[in-house]
Amino acid sequence: MGWTIAASNGPAARAGNARPRASKVETLPGGLQEVRHEAEHCTRCHLYKSATQTVFGEGPQDARIMFVGEQPGDQEDLAGQPFVGPAGKMLDAALKEAELDRSQVYVTNAVKHFKFTPRGKRRIHQKPNMGEIRPCRWWLEHELGIVKPKLVVALGATALTALMQRTERLADFRGRAVAFGDGQQLYTTVHPSYLLRIPDAGSKQMETAKFVRDMRQIRKLAYPD
Ligand code: URA
Repeated sequence: MGWTIAASNGPAARAGNARPRASKVETLPGGLQEVRHEAEHCTRCHLYKSATQTVFGEGPQDARIMFVGEQPGDQEDLAGQPFVGPAGKMLDAALKEAELDRSQVYVTNAVKHFKFTPRGKRRIHQKPNMGEIRPCRWWLEHELGIVKPKLVVALGATALTALMQRTERLADFRGRAVAFGDGQQLYTTVHPSYLLRIPDAGSKQMETAKFVRDMRQIRKLAYPD
């Protein structure tokens, strides 16, 4: 591999004073395309063995906003693209409501391979653990270092943990921007799958409206003028 990555153990502060270490990545001129190609052959953890393919991030290399989800789901695993299944549709709808254009944002995941357990013909999503999140940060760091987004958005607790490099409570960060990296900001909201799982229609509507409010806030932070 022709690029190097900085050691990943800088100071990270608690919520309210969060300034995780900046990503300092040197890349070849090939940029995202080259890193994406390298990631296709990733064996940094065991998940590549059962997944169909690596699902790398997608979006413009100069995007102002980078959304980070958990891991590809069943449909993403088959399509090779992030957030194209039901959670992606939910994300797209909220982006649209907040007048954010998906084609202008970069969308990726903390973990780039689908983790599941087979049940009959179905593949049931399994939450990635630290032993899977940590090695996959290699790719996330490269994405952060190349795209250099003004605003990084953690969609759910796994993304927050991957970005902060330690287990964090979503409730401690949700709905506000904290300093991140080199003059960037990190904003945290729920994962769209959480909204899909809410059984009560009223609560679902309320939580979805809150998610859309987060998206509006994200737009204002990324495009203040
Ligand atoms: N959930 C995620 O976290 N990422 C995807 O790409 C799809 C579903």
